[in-house]
Amino acid sequence: MNKITWQSPSNIALIKYWGKHGVQLPSNPSLSFTLNECNTITELFWKEGDGNIELLFNGESKERFTARARDYISSIDSYFPNLKKLDLHIDSINNFPHSAGIASSASAMSSLALCLCSMDEEISGKKLSKEEFYRKASEIARLGSGSAARSVYGGFVSWGISDKLAESSDEYASPLPIKVHKSFEDMRDTILIVDQGIKAVSSRAGHKLMSRHPYAKQRFALANKNFRDLLRALQKGDNSNFIRIVEAEALGLHSLMMSSSPGYILLKADTLKIIHRIRAFRELSCTPLCYTLDAGPNVHLLYHDKDSAEVEEFITQELLLYCSDKYRINDHVGNGPIKL
Ligand code: DP6
Repeated sequence: MNKITWQSPSNIALIKYWGKHGVQLPSNPSLSFTLNECNTITELFWKEGDGNIELLFNGESKERFTARARDYISSIDSYFPNLKKLDLHIDSINNFPHSAGIASSASAMSSLALCLCSMDEEISGKKLSKEEFYRKASEIARLGSGSAARSVYGGFVSWGISDKLAESSDEYASPLPIKVHKSFEDMRDTILIVDQGIKAVSSRAGHKLMSRHPYAKQRFALANKNFRDLLRALQKGDNSNFIRIVEAEALGLHSLMMSSSPGYILLKADTLKIIHRIRAFRELSCTPLCYTLDAGPNVHLLYHDKDSAEVEEFITQELLLYCSDKYRINDHVGNGPIKL
């Protein structure tokens, strides 16, 4: 069998993608930075055949994931004319817990999309330019999971049309075309794992509830404004606006979940305790750190590299007691996927 391997990271959204329409098109622009340590490694094996697909996730065959991969691959066969004449074996390994609110679908789907694009180049003999390759991979990744569109690039990445970015698109993500202030280039993200369990409501189901959400219109307008304001803060190195916007997006995401119909809560008591501690520590120490949340109970603590020693002491003394088995992941802005 032939083989391609890609390692692709997860990402953390600062402006959240929450709500979609059409074929996986976002209802508002989102902005994230790509992580470095939370990765999926996907090996894609192929040989001539008749469209059979097998999938191992962390070494195990799981019917739910295999069914999702089969649906996904049949949904993108117009991009890859050869797919029906191949048998595929996909072996994906995650180095962090899946379904726990760390965007594992982002790393899993982006690594698979990158493998499919590389495989297509090998089979067809047609090599795309670097820019075309990643744009296509982002579009293919988006069709698997929206947030995965952003994971094919390193650094700060946006996805979705914004009037502030001429080249922005709903179809694929792009690296931010602005110069991010150097104080944000080395941003750290310590992920405080409050709960490793599988979420009660998936992101896919959560997005669906946005289509008839009473606050949908206001949410999409606010996300556009937050996106514009965050771009400015990132350019200027403006910590106080960065903190204000990022925390408003985090709480805004969870308030949309709570005010959906039916409403639901993914936060845990310890998530709230951590948030209160972070606010108190910031007020007392004046260290510019803040939190964001994904669709789950775990807290992403964001801070600058230069404050690492002070923040580490705060984490060990005040936050780890709220983490499941004192588990946290130290991560930071990463350079994006690697072909292995
Ligand atoms: C809260 O990308 O997981 O992490 O497109 O249905 O696969 P699907 O959803 P997904 O949603 C992620 C939502 C979020 C915010 C974000 O990453 O922008």
